[in-house]
Amino acid sequence: MDLQLTIRRGAERLAAAGIASCHTDAELLAAHAWGLSRAQLQLQALSGTGAHPADPQQTRFWELIEERARRVPLQHITGFAPFRWLELRVGPGVFVPRPETETVVELALQHLRTLHSEGVRAPRVVDLGTGSGAIAASIALEFPNAEVHAVELSAEAAAWAQLNFQRLPATASKVTLHQCDLRDFPQQWSQDPAGGGSSFDVVVSNPPYIPPHMVPVEQEVRDHDPEIALYGGGPEGLELPAAVVSAAVTVLAPGGRLILEHAEVQAEAVAGLCRAEPALTSVQSHQDLTGRQRATSARVRSTSEPAA
Ligand SMILES: C[S@@+](CC[C@H](N)C(=O)[O-])C[C@H]1O[C@@H](n2cnc3c(N)ncnc32)[C@H](O)[C@@H]1O
Repeated sequence: MDLQLTIRRGAERLAAAGIASCHTDAELLAAHAWGLSRAQLQLQALSGTGAHPADPQQTRFWELIEERARRVPLQHITGFAPFRWLELRVGPGVFVPRPETETVVELALQHLRTLHSEGVRAPRVVDLGTGSGAIAASIALEFPNAEVHAVELSAEAAAWAQLNFQRLPATASKVTLHQCDLRDFPQQWSQDPAGGGSSFDVVVSNPPYIPPHMVPVEQEVRDHDPEIALYGGGPEGLELPAAVVSAAVTVLAPGGRLILEHAEVQAEAVAGLCRAEPALTSVQSHQDLTGRQRATSARVRSTSEPAA
């Protein structure tokens, strides 16, 4: 059986297991089994290269296909999740970063570019609930002047974040990980000798926000993303998002910016949480690439600015 046919048969097996992205997944699993990039694999498949049933890669490919058919996330099988310019290491115990969060990073970068044009040379950023480190690592890579901090409560997730920060040259010396509850971070930071009590220019966060009654239907999410990464607490899942707003008010400098991801249906509620804070102004909802209101930003009033 040639490689193209092998991949097609793999995709059919995944389709039968209800996986919508069956062709992409089969191709990526074949690339993983044969130790090739996706482009190299496609080239070999097009050239009609054989894939003998006795090849060890062939056996490995079918093992991977069966694992994926049991709805193990593709990223757990390959061990990597693409996110913006990065390939992050992920696996059990850490949330797999999602494409919509890339928009949240873009919002943070836009603000950092504005600060740069205003003469702020080394802005300080904190990512609350960093998981694999996706947001923090992307900002460190794409805005090298920033001093980036990442906060994570789960020991397992923090270990994945540390692994990513250490293995990526752009982040190794740039991101500081704080393993603590984001609700305790403002106080910890105020006593941190490295911080010297100074404030942040940007707080960015994709916190847990799913309400307790909305258990995800996707098996990959329900069975493999850690619960601590999913459920936001309280009847509407807004306890952790509210804690992020409070923490931001405490650690942001005047003029500092909060950027917070949430579910589309929570846009109004999150804007309400921000408006309820007298220190915050310029509350704005932002759409993701599919036009859904998936993030909110707000600014801390400057000292000369009157409260509304
Ligand atoms: C939705 S995941 C987002 C992870 C990552 N920022 C991303 O976008 O891929 C939320 C993260 O917040 C962490 N978390 C949950 N409760 C927390 C808390 N009280 N303090 C700090 N981190 C928390 C979870 O362990 C998880 O890694």
